[in-house]
Amino acid sequence: MPLNISEIRKDFPNLKAQVQGKPLVYLDNAATTFKPQAVINAITDHYRSYTSNVHRGVHTLSEKATAAFEATREKFKNFINAAKAHEVIFTKGTTESINLVAHSYGHFLSEGDEILISEMEHHSNIVPWQMLCERKGCKLKIIPINNQGELILEEFDKLLTPKVKFLSIVYVSNSLGTINPVKQMIKHAHNLNIPVLVDGAQAVSHLEIDVQDLDCDFFVCSSHKLFGPTGVGILYGKEDLLNKMPPYQGGGDMIASVTFEKTTYNVLPYKFEAGTPNVADVIGFGAALDYVHRIGLKNIAAHEQELLAYGTKVLSVIADIRLIGTAKHKAPVLSFVLPNIHPHDIGTLVDREGVAIRTGHHCTQPVMKHFRVPATARASLSMYNTKDELDILVKALRKAEAVFQ
Ligand code: ALA
Repeated sequence: MPLNISEIRKDFPNLKAQVQGKPLVYLDNAATTFKPQAVINAITDHYRSYTSNVHRGVHTLSEKATAAFEATREKFKNFINAAKAHEVIFTKGTTESINLVAHSYGHFLSEGDEILISEMEHHSNIVPWQMLCERKGCKLKIIPINNQGELILEEFDKLLTPKVKFLSIVYVSNSLGTINPVKQMIKHAHNLNIPVLVDGAQAVSHLEIDVQDLDCDFFVCSSHKLFGPTGVGILYGKEDLLNKMPPYQGGGDMIASVTFEKTTYNVLPYKFEAGTPNVADVIGFGAALDYVHRIGLKNIAAHEQELLAYGTKVLSVIADIRLIGTAKHKAPVLSFVLPNIHPHDIGTLVDREGVAIRTGHHCTQPVMKHFRVPATARASLSMYNTKDELDILVKALRKAEAVFQ
């Protein structure tokens, strides 16, 4: 069903902002998405009328907060089609989710074991594994990419040997937009009993996720890239693996009993949720999941693919523009460089026209190295963007070019 974009836009108050005296054109959705009013209301309502800690009190407010908090877990379980709600762990973001797995599952890795990642990973899916390699004497192996920004699958097959004990792979690249064939890769890895983590940070707002169909062992993402608040991440893990793994942090809520002689740990998911969680924002995330469910990811994806095709066409008309990331299967991310203008200058100049894009290395320095650029300018699109906004971007880019002629 085609989306009614003008109706959807009314749900996002931040889209009405003016920047530098111009109506805002927000094209930085890969960094964070705007939040619908329903999410803002859910957070405000919690703070205004039932502020309380969760899992700790028998009083009415605490029970209400606990029910709302746990309802988000159930909603997210349905969102990714996990088998059980206790396979969903709340963290503070994708980065923390990956660190949790690297630390806790990393317990089972030994000297000489290989960990496989790819050249297009975000730093958050590189550095925790490097730290694990330092701790344990493991080796990091890298799946290379081609000049379209796609994984070279023949190289992946060669690297996938019995020495590999973990594969951690991004579903959608934040700097290139590439959608990786993770289902096929997981199947290959599982033939050698290699567990797989899928970094879904950039996938969740563009693709329908079914963790049982993918058969991934871990799936991680953040609420704030899915129209929810910042400060909430998710780690999905298969129950048997999460049960085997030691806790990541110690503290309240993650224990069954504590004495000075011995502590026993709580059951899933609490074993991995030490301390007071981000109650209000988890509740806000529940409202975001309801919102996305109502619009429908298939409808969102159809609209975004149309925008991506249009954006690619209108940007390509600019003489000498170089699109970075031209994979066959892409999410709506348009990374590019222009001759003679540094991406940071592009970002500053288009901001004067009200257009918000991200510039820099996007926490993917190895990708920049591959394409031999210091940085790119990146327009990343979402369900509420329009073709008119892409036209405004192109106009702003032409104006920026004129400054440097
Ligand atoms: N990783 C986020 C981005 O790509 C912040 O912008």
